[in-house]
Amino acid sequence: MEASRIAIPIGVTLDRFIRSNESQYPQSVGDFSQLLRDIALASKVVNREINKAGLIDIMGSSGSHNTGGDDQQKLDILADIRFSRALLKGGAACAIISEEADSMSILNINGKYIVAIDPLDGSSNIDVNVSIGTIFSVYKRLSNIGEPVTIEDCLQCGTEQVAAGYILYGSSTMLVFTTGQGVNGFTYEATLGEYLLSHPNIIIKPEANTYSINEGNSNSFVQEGIHDYLNECKVEQFAGRYIGSLVADIHRNLLKGGIYLYPATRNNPDGKLRIMFEANSLAFIVEQAGGKASDGIQRILEIVPTSIHQKTPLFIGSSEMVKKLELALNKY
Ligand code: AHG
Ligand code: MN
Ligand code: MN
Repeated sequence: MEASRIAIPIGVTLDRFIRSNESQYPQSVGDFSQLLRDIALASKVVNREINKAGLIDIMGSSGSHNTGGDDQQKLDILADIRFSRALLKGGAACAIISEEADSMSILNINGKYIVAIDPLDGSSNIDVNVSIGTIFSVYKRLSNIGEPVTIEDCLQCGTEQVAAGYILYGSSTMLVFTTGQGVNGFTYEATLGEYLLSHPNIIIKPEANTYSINEGNSNSFVQEGIHDYLNECKVEQFAGRYIGSLVADIHRNLLKGGIYLYPATRNNPDGKLRIMFEANSLAFIVEQAGGKASDGIQRILEIVPTSIHQKTPLFIGSSEMVKKLELALNKY
């Protein structure tokens, strides 16, 4: 009997994948791989803690609020600590900016990279056992190694990302990331403690029949064109799918096709989602998969950020759907 039929190969581990692709970023070989490994390690620890959420006292509100005014859940804080600590120990990043912190934290003045992170996305879904995620972006610092890290190092355009990814803690746990050479997805095999390549070279359909939006906000949408576009979706009898965890909504649309919309509302005139912690990373991934990401006027990746907690409207997903949405907005 053929050996591979007796013992089926486990496939490509994340570590092997990173090593075999190191030639794509020769100037920074070891450090960059170290950084991705640190993020993967922290995500395994967070995954373990999320899985125990109903059993130990880590559910619910911590009683505090972050800069954006959101109620911080205990797991938001815990995930923030896990990722920061892993990156601090790994040494490849000079600083981290996080949705959960007011300002940047310096990690290693000799590190080459800046990490922007939403440690736990969809945190209102923690207590009800619905999928949640982590979103991250990696930039090269602009200042010289060994010199003080500046806010300009952190406030780079999305086009400058050297890597971006998300972890989806769902019915299985997945790490999906890009280094600008396409998008690859890895599924966590908990008994081995390894991420294994399960979704190589993800491509998003240019057109599909799913739209994802919190339509409860419709009376307070600021841009008229949104209503026209949503009417078009209904005329076409598209399926509405909205979980309220951005990572989960985007992941479904990435694999099956669809558009995700979070427009400006009267309460959130700049939209709800953050450029540095949510929009840039997902825009880089979706564009690398062949899709589009827009604020309604311009490419998300070309927005020049002026503060780390800045928000933006977000329209992202299948390219033709995002184009149609932009046309509807531009009629007004
Ligand atoms: P976070 O948990 O990091 O604060 O993000 C919540 C975000 C995002 O995950 C989700 O898509 C969106 O908020 C949901 O907002 P609404 O409840 O307004 O629909
Ligand atoms: Mn979020
Ligand atoms: Mn969050």
